[in-house]
Amino acid sequence: MTKLNDLSSPMNFLKTRKSGSVKALGLPGPSPAQVSEILEVAVRVPDHGKLTPWRFVLFEGEARVEIGKAFAKRWQVLHPDHGEESVAFQRELFMRAPVIIVVVSTAAPHVKIPEWEQVLSSAAVCYNIVLAAAAMGFDAQWQTDWVAYDSETIAAMGLRGTERVSGIVCIGTTTAPLEDRPRPDPQALLTRWGQA
Ligand SMILES: Cc1cc2nc3c(=O)[nH]c(=O)nc-3n(C[C@H](O)[C@H](O)[C@H](O)COP(=O)(O)O)c2cc1C
Repeated sequence: MTKLNDLSSPMNFLKTRKSGSVKALGLPGPSPAQVSEILEVAVRVPDHGKLTPWRFVLFEGEARVEIGKAFAKRWQVLHPDHGEESVAFQRELFMRAPVIIVVVSTAAPHVKIPEWEQVLSSAAVCYNIVLAAAAMGFDAQWQTDWVAYDSETIAAMGLRGTERVSGIVCIGTTTAPLEDRPRPDPQALLTRWGQA
């Protein structure tokens, strides 16, 4: 059963939301209909110039096993000295959550909109996925890991040309209590311009 987060107060939800950890993300994950709903929220982000400079690659079910084979193979090439335990970990990388949405930044040079802004928009997409998953009672973690930066694993995940991984968002239901982390003091980060 999917648990329900307290949505009676949107501010309370936002103030208390925390990520799950892929170390403890089990079933249930979102159903195909729920994934569609999450993606509906994902695309509702600020996007200067309405360029839609992002897209998604979904991993669920057997696809997680298949991509794991590519990760393990590449790991062995990169780290021939590593043992089977380490290789097995890479093979299982996408098995740690029932549903994984890879957010792909398709940012490209544009006459008016800087690429930086397009990349920022894709970060908002990642966070909206985390938020939507939490609002539906799931737990999620925005990950990257080495597979997001290696050209071979990036290609294996289906990215093309200059596309980059903005996030590997893992979604499921936590099997361990969520631990919060100390949060920065926003006041300490605030400068009121013009005041000493
Ligand atoms: C771009 C980006 C990449 C991240 N990659 C990882 C990662 O590979 N592994 C990891 O444990 N956490 C990673 N994190 C951190 C987690 O998403 C998250 O910040 C942490 O679990 C605490 O989340 P919370 O502040 O939402 O509770 C990444 C965060 C961002 C923004």
